[in-house]
Amino acid sequence: MIAIGCDHGGYELKMEIIKYLEANQMKYKDFGCHGEPVDYPEYAKLVGHAVVDGECDKGILICGTGIGISIAANKIKGVRCALCGDCFSAQATREHNDANIIALGGRVTGPGLAVKIVDTFLNTEFSGDERHVRRIALIEP
Ligand code: RB5
Repeated sequence: MIAIGCDHGGYELKMEIIKYLEANQMKYKDFGCHGEPVDYPEYAKLVGHAVVDGECDKGILICGTGIGISIAANKIKGVRCALCGDCFSAQATREHNDANIIALGGRVTGPGLAVKIVDTFLNTEFSGDERHVRRIALIEP
């Protein structure tokens, strides 16, 4: 199950990503918003907790830039949220950081590229290399 959430700046892109998830028969839970003006940290919290509590396997967060919502998500213990604007980063953050949430900027990244970035993120496994496991453990306070 994929958790997905956005603020008003990410709403249009979220709907494009939902189309991709549905076209690929991927189960998701949409935590909002629905296009109305909202405060992005609330949606980062909803998606972040859904992932760290085990309700969802991975998360997708979108705000205007992807910056605010990724900063907010990364305050939650156990969240490793990566703001990605390219497929290389989406692949590397899964392989190296075992990122469990991806953030995107709805005013930054076009829908075609965004869908490829999400597809890369969702279909790349963590490498499991000892050095990456060690470094991830060092992140936690
Ligand atoms: C909302 O206008 C905007 O500030 C937000 O979507 C995001 O870009 C914050 O980082």
